[in-house]
Amino acid sequence: MHKKRPSSDGDSGSVKRACKEIAVDVPELAKSTVRIQDRKRVQEILQSIHNGGPSKLQVIADFDMTLTKFAHNGKRCPTCHNIMENSTVISEECKKQLQGLLDKYYPIEIDPKRTIEEKTPEMVKWWNEAHDLLISQKIQKDKLVLTVRESDARLRDGYRVFFDELKKQSIPLLIFSAGIGDVLEEVIRQAGVFHPNVKVFSNYMDFDESGILQAFKGQLIHTYNKREGALLNSDHFQELKNKRNIILLGDSMGDLTMADGVHSMENILKIGYLNDKVEEREAQYMDAYDIVLEKDETMDVVNGILKYITAKN
Ligand code: C5P
Ligand code: MG
Repeated sequence: MHKKRPSSDGDSGSVKRACKEIAVDVPELAKSTVRIQDRKRVQEILQSIHNGGPSKLQVIADFDMTLTKFAHNGKRCPTCHNIMENSTVISEECKKQLQGLLDKYYPIEIDPKRTIEEKTPEMVKWWNEAHDLLISQKIQKDKLVLTVRESDARLRDGYRVFFDELKKQSIPLLIFSAGIGDVLEEVIRQAGVFHPNVKVFSNYMDFDESGILQAFKGQLIHTYNKREGALLNSDHFQELKNKRNIILLGDSMGDLTMADGVHSMENILKIGYLNDKVEEREAQYMDAYDIVLEKDETMDVVNGILKYITAKN
């Protein structure tokens, strides 16, 4: 349900003040792509995170369609899986089968009318069927660099400021992805932003002694089981136990649980990219995310927020 704005005069006065202040602190929040249900709340979270400063902050971001673009010049951009699927390491027949899986399961993934419980078994089938097809192609590890280089993978505009600023301020960045870890690492390596403060949780390929893909390692991560993934990686969050303020970046309702392993959380600001089926999903996203970015292919708002948070008090 869409929450109503407060209607009493007093409340609407403070909401108006919050709207004004928020855009003064972070001018990027005045962009036309920004939707915020409760500006007063966002103002308060931003203020608290700013007061804590960079030393108390960690950033947790999804990868596909969050750090990467959804579309560029009107053309859809690839996910990690698509980077493999579109490449020459996959046969034409296998490409057709992978496309068939995408056509069948992607509408389920983004369907606002189905619950996460209903979607989860379908996602497990999608990932397992796609991974089996990739394994059947006997992909060589040493082809990955070229596969990524020749792909249309694109990080969002402003990505370099985002990654470099986090590194400069020693703010840990966790990239938590249901994509393919080897591929996403290569994307950020080739972009020159795989800095030491970046940690990745994802699905990693398992290669045999001759460098041929034989399986995927560990517990599968799909769109809707990131909570389990977060809880399994408790060591990471234990190491960061003093970083109690979180900025979470996602593009799916499943990304909202990525911070579930964080210890003694004080403040969390959830920023959601709404890329596809915007009208159908807007209400759901505005209820779930503090800030919703509609068809915004940039990191502008996130970078503006980081600038405000890391500015000296
Ligand atoms: O990094 P992130 O968690 O967003 O990665 C998962 C995305 O990869 C999903 O949103 C899904 O649409 C996409 N996917 C895909 N092909 C698959 C499986 C998932 O493009 N075979
Ligand atoms: Mg995503």
